[in-house]
Amino acid sequence: MVKSNERDAYVVQTVRSYLMAKSYDFLMRGTEQRCLDSWRQEVLASAHGAILEIGSGTGVNLPYLTTRNGPIYLCEPDKQMRKQLSRKILKTNNLCLQVTPWAAEKIDLPDESIDTVVSTLVLCSVKCLSTSLKEAYRLLRPGGTLIFMEHIASDHPKTRLWQQRLEPLWGLCAGECRLTRDTVIAIEESGFQIEQLTEDKMCGAPEFVNRTVRGLARKTLHRQCNPNAPARSAGAAKRIWTIQGDCQ
Ligand SMILES: C[S@@+](CC[C@H](N)C(=O)[O-])C[C@H]1O[C@@H](n2cnc3c(N)ncnc32)[C@H](O)[C@@H]1O
Repeated sequence: MVKSNERDAYVVQTVRSYLMAKSYDFLMRGTEQRCLDSWRQEVLASAHGAILEIGSGTGVNLPYLTTRNGPIYLCEPDKQMRKQLSRKILKTNNLCLQVTPWAAEKIDLPDESIDTVVSTLVLCSVKCLSTSLKEAYRLLRPGGTLIFMEHIASDHPKTRLWQQRLEPLWGLCAGECRLTRDTVIAIEESGFQIEQLTEDKMCGAPEFVNRTVRGLARKTLHRQCNPNAPARSAGAAKRIWTIQGDCQ
C-alpha cells in the first residue's frame, strides 16, 4: 500500500508539474519576444541530420526544428509538458518527429547515432549535469554538435551568494531549476570542444537568473581516438567568450 506521505508528495508534484506546463509559454512570452526567440533562431540554425532535443518542454523550439528532414527525437520526462508538446506537434506536418519520455541522463538510443543534440534552458533542471552531458557525448557521432542555450551561475560573488540562498525555493517554484551551475565548465569537462560561445543577459529576468550562455560544442574526432585526453580547461573556453551588451 502506498504510504500517505508518498501519496501527498505525488499529488504535490503532479499539481506543480501541471501548473508549470500550463503556464510556461505564458510566463516566458515577454522574455521570448525580447531575446530568447532570436537566440533560439540563431543557435538552432546549425541543427542538422539526426537531432535529439533533451527537455523539449512545451515545444518552443519546434518552429526551428520542424523544417529539418532527419529524424527528430524530442525527449521530455514530464507527462504534463509532454501533453503540451504533443498538442503542438499535431499542428505541424513533420512526420519525422518522435516524442519520448526519456530523461537526459538515460536516452534509449545507440552510441554515435545522433548528429545534433539540442539543450535550451534544460541543463539547469536535469538531476545530474555531468551524467546528462556524458550521455549527449555518447550519442553524438564524432564531429557531432551540442547546441546549448542555458542560464548559469553568476560571476559576481554577491549575486552568486543570493543564488545559493534562493536556489531551494526557486527550485520548488521552477521545476527543480538550479541557479548555481557552471554549465560551460561542465560541458568542457565532458569532453566537448566549445566552438561558439556568447554570453548575454536574459532581458527582463531578475539578476539571479539572467546570466546566459549560448553556443555550440563539438565532439571532436581527436578525443574520440583518445578517450583519456584531458578535457579543455575552463580558461580556454573563457578566451573565446563573446560578451554581448544588455539587450533592450
Ligand atoms: C525550463 S524548461 C525548458 C523547456 C524548453 N527546452 C525551452 O527551451 O523552453 C526545462 C525542461 O526540462 C525538463 N527536464 C527536467 N529534468 C529533465 C531531465 N532529467 N531530462 C530531460 N529533461 C528534463 C523539464 O520537464 C522541462 O520541460
